Amino acid sequence: TTAVSKVDPGTNSLLYRGYPVQELAASCSFEEVAHLLWHGELPTPGELEGLRERERAHRALDPRLLRVLDELPAGAHPMDVVRTAVSVLGALAPDAADSSPAAELAKAERLFAVLPAVVALTQRRRHGLAPVPPRDDLGYAANFLWQAFGAEPGPEVVRAFEVSLVLYAEHSFNASTFTARVVTSTLADLHSAVTAAVGALKGPLHGGANEAVWDVFEEVGTGAGAPERARTWVREALAAHRKVMGFGHRVYRDGDSRVPTMSAALRELAAHLHRPDVVELYDALEGAVVGAKGIRPNLDFPSGPAYHLIGFDTPVFTPVFVASRVVGWTAHVREQRAANSLIRPLSAYDGPGERHLAR
Ligand code: COA
Repeated sequence: TTAVSKVDPGTNSLLYRGYPVQELAASCSFEEVAHLLWHGELPTPGELEGLRERERAHRALDPRLLRVLDELPAGAHPMDVVRTAVSVLGALAPDAADSSPAAELAKAERLFAVLPAVVALTQRRRHGLAPVPPRDDLGYAANFLWQAFGAEPGPEVVRAFEVSLVLYAEHSFNASTFTARVVTSTLADLHSAVTAAVGALKGPLHGGANEAVWDVFEEVGTGAGAPERARTWVREALAAHRKVMGFGHRVYRDGDSRVPTMSAALRELAAHLHRPDVVELYDALEGAVVGAKGIRPNLDFPSGPAYHLIGFDTPVFTPVFVASRVVGWTAHVREQRAANSLIRPLSAYDGPGERHLAR
């Protein structure tokens, strides 16, 4: 059981602590949503100010972490860099051995605060660029983009990005969250749980799908003739029994409740950046998959192209997802710890019957 969020495929809704995610995405900052998920209620103005102060105070990268990350090969996948960073931060944490609720909340807030710098580093090291120090005068989402690109983003770009962060923050017992709960149920520490969750999120059937979505956009190509190419691509992919990434969902059977909000954010972003070609291909691919198979898009389908338009390299899309989902993971870690019981599924054995060595 969980009180963090409710996914209801029957009504196609997603509630964070009772609030429809669409309402939160329309009018809340990511910091407010983080407080809501961790504590169960939206913050008072004083609580929000306190969280913002602590978040700004923990944005910078520890030089010891930087030294470890510098040792990783330039071509290491950004998710491997992020997974390593979370693990190193666990070893460096002054309160590593303290799993009291107060210490775990402090650890969750520190990870939340520093992950933008880690993700930004993964983007910049791919281009041989040095890290950009954080800016205290910017909110969480704007500072994230500032650290990634070294340029102050326009409000339209920040808004689309923040909507994606809110929508990605939590989704009940998905594979990575369940992983975090299993690790926590052994009474291991929060950083171990989050490190394992990053590993689970990396796979293309889970978080890695947003990267795979943009790969398809690149393979088909935007511009003249894109709709026809999209239909051909989808026909051939389905005939070859290939999964089309960004479509289908284990829980939702009639569309992902987060897609309309993110799809609208993508359309506004594309209009602002004068990229109607991306929306044209988005619509063509969706039309072709829904028409051929009746399978509807999930959140990764609009967020992949949005992250491309914002400027992230494709392998950095899932690390961005980490920076958002860390809030949900750590809310679940806190909930699991508060009423713990070891998670240990039984398995149905289908191997050979009992046999004996002939020695
Ligand atoms: N592209 C093509 N066919 C798909 C599909 C997709 N994205 N998703 C499901 N299907 C097909 C399956 O092949 C299966 O067809 P079949 O009955 O002819 O064998 C049918 O739809 C039922 O799918 P199933 O595999 O039972 O769904 P699931 O609940 O096990 O899978 C996912 C859910 C998310 C793993 C699956 O939809 C998928 O792999 N999607 C692509 C990856 C992705 O976007 N992941 C992010 C999820 S948020």
